[in-house]
Amino acid sequence: MTNQRHVWRLRARPEGTIKDSDLDYMAEPMPAMGDGQALVEVNYLSLDPTNRIWMSDMDQYMPPVELGDMMRGVIAGTVTRSNNPDLPIGTMVSGLGGFASHVVVDPGMVNAVRQVPGIPFADLFGSLGSTAVTAYFGLLDICDPKPGETLVVSGAAGAVGSIVGQIGKIKGCHVVGIAGGADKCRWVVDELGFDACIDYKSEDVGARLDALCPNGIDMNFENVGGDIMDAVMMRMNNHGRMSLCGMISTYNDTTPRGGPAAWPAILMHRLKVQGFIITDYAPRFGEAIAALAGWWMGGQIKTKVDLRHGLENAIITLRDLYSGGNFGKLLLEVKAPDGQA
Ligand SMILES: NC(=O)c1ccc[n+]([C@@H]2O[C@H](COP(=O)([O-])OP(=O)(O)OC[C@H]3O[C@@H](n4cnc5c(N)ncnc54)[C@H](OP(=O)(O)O)[C@@H]3O)[C@@H](O)[C@H]2O)c1
Repeated sequence: MTNQRHVWRLRARPEGTIKDSDLDYMAEPMPAMGDGQALVEVNYLSLDPTNRIWMSDMDQYMPPVELGDMMRGVIAGTVTRSNNPDLPIGTMVSGLGGFASHVVVDPGMVNAVRQVPGIPFADLFGSLGSTAVTAYFGLLDICDPKPGETLVVSGAAGAVGSIVGQIGKIKGCHVVGIAGGADKCRWVVDELGFDACIDYKSEDVGARLDALCPNGIDMNFENVGGDIMDAVMMRMNNHGRMSLCGMISTYNDTTPRGGPAAWPAILMHRLKVQGFIITDYAPRFGEAIAALAGWWMGGQIKTKVDLRHGLENAIITLRDLYSGGNFGKLLLEVKAPDGQA
C-alpha cells in the first residue's frame, strides 16, 4: 500500500467565490495513526454548500477550518489500516473526514455504513444521505405539513429541495418549486411530480407565486435566502411555517446584507421561522433513512446523483454549487470502492 496521500489544504479564506489559490493540492506522507484510530481510503467525497462556510471565519455551527489544515468534508470510504477492533480493515464507513485520498479517523467521526440491498452505494451515501435526511426532518419536524396545504421550496432541483418537494407530495400538499433554468424546472415537475416550478432566472418570482399559490403559502422550505426568500415570505398565510435550511445565495457575500425585507410578515402573519442544523437530529437518523429508503424502493421518491471524478477536481467541482452548475446531489468519486470500478 502507498505511503503517500493527496490532500487539499486551506491556504486563504476566500473573498467571494472560492479561487484556485485559496487551497493547495499536495502529495504528502501518509499520516500516522494513534491508539483507537483507523486509516480510511476515501471512495466518495460529498461536495456541499456548507464547505464554503467552513472555509470562512464567520460565526457558524462548527469551528472554521484553520489555515493550513486539511479541508473538512463528509466522506465515505474503506478502512485500510486499523488500531480499533470496532473498525476492522475492509469496513465501509461514512462521516466527517476531509478533501483527501486517505484520512485518519477517530471512532466518533465515522459510522459503519449499513448497505441497503437494491440501493447503489452512490445513491445511499449521496442522494439518500445527509441531504435527504435534512429534507426529511426540516420539512416534517418544522413545517408539519397537512394535506391540501401549499408548500414552496427553493433550490427545488437540488439535493435537499428535490426531496422536500417529493415528501410534500407524499403528504398531500400543493407543491411549488423554485429553481434556476428550464431544464431543472421541467425535471422537477415532469419527473418528480411537483405541481409547478418557477424558473427564477427568467420569470418574475412574485408574480408567478401569486398565480401558482392562489390560496397563499402555508409552508416555506428555504434553501437560498435573499430576494427569493423575501418574495415567498411576503405571501405566507397566517400561522405559516418556515424551515430555514440554508441561504446559499449569500454564502459568497463579502459584506453582510440587511434584511430580510419581509421581516414584518413574521409579525403580521404570526409566522413560525425556525433554523436547524441536521447534526442536531443525529440520534434520529435511522428513522429518516428507513422512511427514505422505503419511499425510494417503492418509487415514491426519485433522486439524481451528479457524479464527478478525481480528487484533483474537487475545488473546480465545488464551485458549481454556487452557480447552479450541479444537477442533483453533487458527489465526487475519489476512488471507486473495490468491485465497483
Ligand atoms: N441546515 C442544514 O443542516 C443543511 C444541510 C444540508 C444543506 N443545507 C443547505 O441547503 C441548501 C441546499 O443544499 P444542497 O446540498 O441541496 O445543494 P444543491 O441544492 O444540490 O446545490 C446548490 C444549488 O443552489 C442553487 N443556487 C446557488 N446559488 C444560488 C443563488 N444565488 N440563488 C438561488 N439559488 C442558488 C443552485 O440551484 P439553481 O440552479 O436552481 O439556482 C445550486 O444548484 C444550501 O443552502 C445548504 O447550505 C442545510
